[in-house]
Amino acid sequence: MKTAKVSLFVVIVMVLGMLAACAPAAAPAQPAAPAQPAAPAAAKTYKDMTLCYPQLGAESDWRTANTASFKETATQLGIKQLVFSDAQQKQENQISAVRACIQQGVDVIALPPVVEDGWEAVLTEAKNAGIPVIIVDRSVSADKSLYASHIGSDMVLEGERAAEEFNKMLPNGGAVLELSGTTGSGAAVGRAKGFRNKLNANIKIIDSQTGNFTRAEAVPVMQAFLKKYKSGTDFQGIFIHNDDMGIGAIEALKAAGVKPGDLKIVSVDGTRGGFQAMVDGWFQADVECNPLLGPQVFEMALKLMNGQTIDREVLTNETVYYPDKAAELLPTRKY
Ligand code: AHR
Repeated sequence: MKTAKVSLFVVIVMVLGMLAACAPAAAPAQPAAPAQPAAPAAAKTYKDMTLCYPQLGAESDWRTANTASFKETATQLGIKQLVFSDAQQKQENQISAVRACIQQGVDVIALPPVVEDGWEAVLTEAKNAGIPVIIVDRSVSADKSLYASHIGSDMVLEGERAAEEFNKMLPNGGAVLELSGTTGSGAAVGRAKGFRNKLNANIKIIDSQTGNFTRAEAVPVMQAFLKKYKSGTDFQGIFIHNDDMGIGAIEALKAAGVKPGDLKIVSVDGTRGGFQAMVDGWFQADVECNPLLGPQVFEMALKLMNGQTIDREVLTNETVYYPDKAAELLPTRKY
């Protein structure tokens, strides 16, 4: 009897063991589903773009062409909004306009700075707000970490090119006057520097005064020069930092009885007015400064909006124009 009980116990244990062996194994723990990568943000297009352009003023034909380039390009590309303002050549107005754009939360600020210094505070505000800034046309002295890029002309090279023209025209030396652009502006500082870099030692700059890049302000400056120095005797040439001031200077020279060709005059910009002054025999050379920067700036702004890499400095490829081709090229000039 005892043996039968033991056998029954053994059988039960064996059956339970077999049943346990046949039971389906517990499902292994499933590994956590891999996190789905976030869907890539759709690339931004021009239709998404709000670009701020606090233009520095309307002082010259160059500036008018620059403004037109931005407005026309904005329309052609169909951007959402171009926030445009005119600072009337006052830095405080430009700073206020930049602050208003930061407040509005624009995508990109393109800043053509009237002068080089004094931008650190507002550029830092833009950076803190996450709004990239492209410096356009003239340069700033602020640290490069405060802005994304600079697109514009090499103003030092322009001044050097002007000096090389005088070196060719006055091989035996002489004296020249300088009618300079806005004091403290990247354009005036760069051109003055380049001019001095390359001017032959036997050519002296006997005086330099600003005409603030305008026709109206150049007239009295030239009149004052003519009172102080005898044209052709005390000086043989004038380096003029832009065509508008050149046209103002011509007005004063004509009134004083100076004739085209009596003096060597080199100007900067290559506007229609400058070409006309070459056709009329007043300018012996016009160093190009191209204002049509809109397309490049909008293209870079879109790259910035999409987090793409951009060049930190984009200098415009420019040339020097001469009277021999001026009449032929004048009708084709866009500004
Ligand atoms: O900064 C560019 C200069 O500014 C141009 O030479 C001049 O015409 C303009 O006013």
